[in-house]
Amino acid sequence: VHVDASPRASRKIPDNMFGTTFEEINHAGAGGLWAELVSNRGFEAGGPNTPSNIDPWSIIGNESYISVSTDRTSCFSRNEVALQMEVLCDCRGPNICPSSGVGIYNPGYWGMNIEKRKVYKVTLYIRSLGSVNITVSLASSDGTQLLSASNIIIDTQDVSKWTKVERLLVSKGANVNSRLQLTTVKKGVYWFDQVSVMPLDTYKGHGFRMDLVSMLENIKPRYLRFPGGSYVEGGWLRNAFRWKETVGPWEERPGHFGDIWLYWTDDGLGFFEFLQLAEDLAAAPVWVINNGISHNDHVDSSGILPFVQDILDGIEFARGDPDTKWGSIRATMGHPKPFQLNHVAIGNEDCWRGNYRGNYLKFYNGIKAIYPDIKIISNCDGSSHQLDHPADLYDFHVYTSAANMFSMVHQFDSASRSGPKAFVSEYAVHGGDAGSGSLLAALAEAAFLIGLEKNSDAVEMASYAPLFVNANDRRFSPDAIVFNSWQHYGTPSYWMQQFFRESGGAIFHPTTVEAGSSSLLVASAITWQNPKNSNTYLKIKIVNFGSDVVNLKISMNGLQNRVSSSGSIKTVLTSGNLKDENSFSTPKKVVPVSSVISNAGSNMDAIISAHSVTSFDLLL
Ligand code: AHR
Repeated sequence: VHVDASPRASRKIPDNMFGTTFEEINHAGAGGLWAELVSNRGFEAGGPNTPSNIDPWSIIGNESYISVSTDRTSCFSRNEVALQMEVLCDCRGPNICPSSGVGIYNPGYWGMNIEKRKVYKVTLYIRSLGSVNITVSLASSDGTQLLSASNIIIDTQDVSKWTKVERLLVSKGANVNSRLQLTTVKKGVYWFDQVSVMPLDTYKGHGFRMDLVSMLENIKPRYLRFPGGSYVEGGWLRNAFRWKETVGPWEERPGHFGDIWLYWTDDGLGFFEFLQLAEDLAAAPVWVINNGISHNDHVDSSGILPFVQDILDGIEFARGDPDTKWGSIRATMGHPKPFQLNHVAIGNEDCWRGNYRGNYLKFYNGIKAIYPDIKIISNCDGSSHQLDHPADLYDFHVYTSAANMFSMVHQFDSASRSGPKAFVSEYAVHGGDAGSGSLLAALAEAAFLIGLEKNSDAVEMASYAPLFVNANDRRFSPDAIVFNSWQHYGTPSYWMQQFFRESGGAIFHPTTVEAGSSSLLVASAITWQNPKNSNTYLKIKIVNFGSDVVNLKISMNGLQNRVSSSGSIKTVLTSGNLKDENSFSTPKKVVPVSSVISNAGSNMDAIISAHSVTSFDLLL
């Protein structure tokens, strides 16, 4: 392997080269990254036009003690449904309530993870025909283990009006399959709405689940593409993600049924929260908008202007000064400073759907007229022919077999260097080769990314998809990060991305492989600086897609500094079997392993394991 690090041959890789695509799929956000523990907190899950659905809420006690129903008496105009609970028993006869009380419970998303000594903020809205004596508690899934409880006692006449109640519950025990309970032994008619349980310690206090964000931090995504994926389009336009319905106080958000991945979201993770997450991760936000096209219906270009205005309002929400109409709403949500929104993708996989070009141009012209600096991403593939419409970037998605992904190391070799650059916003090995996330998939993807680095004068950005899967609701597999209420692990494809986390903004050096089995070896090299200690490293990455161990000589020219004899690290991702996967029980079966290099130098021997991704970080 020879690295040509001469300035003439080298060039800078785009700053945002490797990022991440977050889609609300597989309960990635609701019941995932968004730390809210209550599912269907407003009893709204049926949506505004159908009978509401209280699932997964359930009752504690039998019908002789309690009955529940829903009505539209909420104090929130955008989500009118409230739960009515009629308690038929009392603390005195003849119909005495069970001593532990009757009421309702919410098991969260396949069980709430309640941790010992952690603090949980319970918020709820309540109304009653008489005084209130309700116990709010966190308990095990069958209610027998009480983790924390607090009483809500309201004697005043005012309970006939909606009253907001907040309680901080400190858990005295731990249970990963817990539930929230609202119970009483007092006869009466009660209404509940917008019931929330949030752990107090969330990422930067912004509502994100700590352990899952730390996985994101680990791969240092340079951009965050959101909120999808097909989720953006919807099966039908009426069910697509509409940003205005997801901003403002959480209690007032209507929530919506995502009819692509078939689940309800309360939209606690809304437009503002996505922008906030991007900022918190120092990642550039990339907003994928609905362009008036869903999987089953579309708006004609002649009627698209209200949709364009809606998106312009959204950009004003993100970027406008606090004295603008929509910027002021962002400011009231706690972020007076504009977010740095510089990328907007017009739709997702819609190039051949509806009247894409007609709609696209209306969005393109509308956005550029006010925000000429915003980079607009087209859904049409410009890698093999010129686009017939203006764009700053074109979207490119690939889900394929491992062999095909490996061969795509050359996909962009002859892509246009003059037109818009590629935004590979979704890539993954898919199908039998990938299983639920195999080493084989990760190797092929790593080779593909090496090809993207080489072609980073034609490719600007790239991200694996999907990012997250709640193991209780796999709608699309494989995914990079698998979790349940309390555990998580990265698939080999997740760990593969760690090899590329320093690439954005680094200097790329052409690298050639001359070996007998070179067609199964691909390599690239960059120099990058560690911001923590300002050390500069030459990083050489080599993917060995073959089953033979390879003995290599690594050489280089053009480096200003010599390779230091100490301080260099070799990292290898491999495993005994190509189909090996990680799991909750063996989360570290296929993870990168690092070791100190003892023979670092400008000419060095190296052994490359069979079926591996290897990086050499040589200290300069
Ligand atoms: O990543 C999963 C899905 O695959 C996305 O929603 C869609 O864009 C693609 O077809």
